[in-house]
Amino acid sequence: MKENIIAHNYQTSKLDRNIANKHKSFLIWFTGLSGSGKSTIANLVENKLHTKGIKTYSLDGDNIRKGINNDLTFTPEDRTENIRRIAEVANLMVDAGLVVLAAFVSPYKKDRENIRTIVKDVNFVEVFINTSVEECERRDVKGLYKKARAGEIKNMTGISAPYEIPENPDLEILTENETIEESVTKILDLITPKLQLNHE
Ligand code: ADX
Repeated sequence: MKENIIAHNYQTSKLDRNIANKHKSFLIWFTGLSGSGKSTIANLVENKLHTKGIKTYSLDGDNIRKGINNDLTFTPEDRTENIRRIAEVANLMVDAGLVVLAAFVSPYKKDRENIRTIVKDVNFVEVFINTSVEECERRDVKGLYKKARAGEIKNMTGISAPYEIPENPDLEILTENETIEESVTKILDLITPKLQLNHE
């Protein structure tokens, strides 16, 4: 099929959209255990960007796993497909001119590398939200760790499924050692130069 799909030459490009928006577009990817604080931090970062007039969009389990990916489970194969589809959706949104914030457990290194390939290295910022499994389990905001311990949930990341730690993230946030405000500031400091139109 693929060989019969010929790209159309659109007259309006990503660069045109970036110029109109007055900022570059890219993907900020938050990885970490369930309950590590990914979505909370991503939402605060998005809010700061939005108030500065930056065009943003957030992707997380709520709008993805309940919609486009509602056919997928938490087996390794389905997680791979989950991340692949999210990366493709994010890639379109980056092309559309948005700063995309994606918060997903994304426990496998090869899946995270695949995102980098899909959206291209320059458009990808990887933020590792490093909260220990002990702390996530203590917080247990959604009660999932309790269920996993009781055997009611299979393939629970950190309990009965692996989390492969990012070796070279663009930023690592140790949520147990710093305040949420400090974490948000660190992320904003990292990405602010990347928003500039003249930045590589
Ligand atoms: S991923 O591994 O495929 O990236 P994703 O981020 O989409 O996972 O979904 C993780 C969210 O689904 C968790 O925050 C949690 O609320 C919920 N969840 C339900 N079952 C599991 C499970 N077995 N492992 C991890 N998260 C689960």
